[in-house]
Amino acid sequence: MLHKGYERKIDQLVNELTLEEKIKMIHGAGLFRTGAVERLGIPPIVMSDGPTGVRFEFFNDNWGRAGHNDDGVTYCPSNSAIAATWNRELAGKSGTVLGEEARGRGKDIILAPGVNVMRTPLCGRNFEYFSEDPYLISEMAVPVIEGIESSDVGACVKHFAVNNQETERNWVNVEIDERTLREIYLPAFEAAVKKAKVRSIMGAYNLFRGVHCCENNELLGEILRKEWNYDGLIVSDWGGIHDTKAAAESPIDVEMSIYANFDEYCMAEPLLNAVRNGEIEEERVDEKVKSILRFMLRVKMIDIVEVESGDNEQTAISAGCTEQKPAVYAVRDRSRKKGSYDTSAHQDAVLETARESIVLLKNEEQRLPLAPEKTHRLLVIGHNAAKLHSNGGGSAEIAALYEINPLLGIKMELGGNCEVTYAEGYYVPDKNRQQVLNWQEVSLDELASEQGAYEGNDPEGQKIQKALREEAVALASEYDDVIFVGGLNHDTDEEGYDRPDLKLPYHQDELITELLKVNPNMIIVMMAGNPVDMSAWIDDAKSIVWMSYAGMEGGRALGEILFGEVNPSGKLVMTMPKSLDQIPAMVFGDFPGRTLTEEEHERMNAKLTETYREGVFVGYRYYDKYQIPVQFPFGHGLSYTAFSYGDMQVKESDGQTFKVQIPVTNTGKLAGKETVELYVGETEVSPENPVKELKGFCKLSLAPGETKYAEFELTADAFRHFDEKTDAWKVIAGSYTIYIGSSVSDIRSVTTITIK
Ligand code: BGC
Repeated sequence: MLHKGYERKIDQLVNELTLEEKIKMIHGAGLFRTGAVERLGIPPIVMSDGPTGVRFEFFNDNWGRAGHNDDGVTYCPSNSAIAATWNRELAGKSGTVLGEEARGRGKDIILAPGVNVMRTPLCGRNFEYFSEDPYLISEMAVPVIEGIESSDVGACVKHFAVNNQETERNWVNVEIDERTLREIYLPAFEAAVKKAKVRSIMGAYNLFRGVHCCENNELLGEILRKEWNYDGLIVSDWGGIHDTKAAAESPIDVEMSIYANFDEYCMAEPLLNAVRNGEIEEERVDEKVKSILRFMLRVKMIDIVEVESGDNEQTAISAGCTEQKPAVYAVRDRSRKKGSYDTSAHQDAVLETARESIVLLKNEEQRLPLAPEKTHRLLVIGHNAAKLHSNGGGSAEIAALYEINPLLGIKMELGGNCEVTYAEGYYVPDKNRQQVLNWQEVSLDELASEQGAYEGNDPEGQKIQKALREEAVALASEYDDVIFVGGLNHDTDEEGYDRPDLKLPYHQDELITELLKVNPNMIIVMMAGNPVDMSAWIDDAKSIVWMSYAGMEGGRALGEILFGEVNPSGKLVMTMPKSLDQIPAMVFGDFPGRTLTEEEHERMNAKLTETYREGVFVGYRYYDKYQIPVQFPFGHGLSYTAFSYGDMQVKESDGQTFKVQIPVTNTGKLAGKETVELYVGETEVSPENPVKELKGFCKLSLAPGETKYAEFELTADAFRHFDEKTDAWKVIAGSYTIYIGSSVSDIRSVTTITIK
């Protein structure tokens, strides 16, 4: 809540506005801005994507890039990379960078972070999201939001809610039981509202229980506004509103879209007419305008001043209020922070995050780190080694000031005394999509068919593929030190698209298999925003490094890790399953959706319905319960040093609050960081509950031989479940087990406690 005095001023300003002016304010007047009311000094809200940096400028009314040479920005690690650090402080720093850059570029809202749950490893937008686990998402998203908003801009948490697939993203209806909704899909939004006090939220494209999320009173009204007391701004996703009356009568405040017919938006002339002819009450519009003004005050876009107050009269006149003087009007708040972009401090911050985001999955025979002083000839193979990723992914695309790819990072690390040879290894045909059509322009209809890894399987493509493979394999047999950098890219990790399977694209499996035959010591780096199936070669590979899209300094960070300057400390934010048929949404459910029944057709404007039948058993909650062996478990990540865990000690205070601590010792020869993970589950696990769930983590930095304590505080929240019968959270008294470990399946200390 803003100060009472401000709420009064907001009411006064709303009274000054005509219906036409109010309508102008609540819909897009440009692709990324709302309408202004100059007469009263009210500016437009200027927004920009997105999650990895401030997007380049578009023309106001078309999706052509405006072609500025001053909109290159700091390319930040994606949320999937930020989360892999398991470091709240770095999440805060990443948010601060994004917020400062947004303000520096003159924005009022940065359309980030995305906090949707990684429900399947197929979703093209998972790289924009944090994790499969609601606790990890919340813990990392809150500091990101706080960091962003420390620069007098709004973060815009998206996409509210149950937006977990791209297939038919505008027309898929999600059916979900209340418990799963509350325990898995809402916690990050709730934390954003209650803990981070986020200033804006974006509704999702999909339907929830038969109603589009951006018009959904259950989600936006009952839960967000009433239950969580959220009085901030609610923005639609671009093109997420379909019905004037439904939108007007729901709490959505601003309608944005991808089309340039701004006056025809549902909440533009159609709404104006509906209010004029009495179909919709004007108060509905007033509520939306109030949210907008409240937002503007919060980010210090404006101050609201009364005309009588002497000095301000001057400003009123300069703001254009020369004729009939209003009682109040808006002026620019001169105390607003100015932000900054492309600073060296930002580059340092993203490097720090990139370093901790890299995950060492496997390191047999301690092949890594490579010794730079002993590496005189190095072969780097793989398209991803030389690829830039910042300019793709959908609305996450940006113009990076620079981007250090892995090959460059490796060369920067080694300097001139090592001869580095590069071979592309696998062929990635350039689809040249950007030249044909702008991505966003067609994103709501035809895009899906355009997307995905175009493998280039035509005869010409096959010829190139074969030649590249033969060249790489021949070279690999001649080198002692070989690093392969492959994985996915933004043709597959892309908005509007879900991968059909977990397979590596571009025939990488064949290539890697052949390479390992001639060079069994080859180091493998997988760069991707989503798990991939490594079964074709995983047993033959000695060292595997995993990284998501780690920002402009990602390549440098990788170089430092491969050559031992930095000790890896990232951990997986999503289980890496072995195969498609292990994925709970597919085992139990109908991912990516089934056709509608006749009854559903009558009732809703959708094409598919998807029931989240796996319930709360998303990700490790499923694999753990049914003891299904996976490729790599949630929370897994190795180090060049080793950590030993002692026994945990638990101190109870009031029967529901516990202080837990555990000593962890660095038993190796190198300094390193270890994330200590704490899970909680019932001692006698009931069939409807997961065995254990993440309820705490703590990252320790340890010198060789050093011991430190990881400390946690567990409150009743850690033991609660949502009870559908009473429609409320409940803590059931009884015995619970606390598990502490290095991953969900590498548990080092266990104890039981009693909840009274
Ligand atoms: C995406 C949003 C994005 C918006 C504006 C939509 O297609 O779903 O995440 O912020 O476009 O570019």
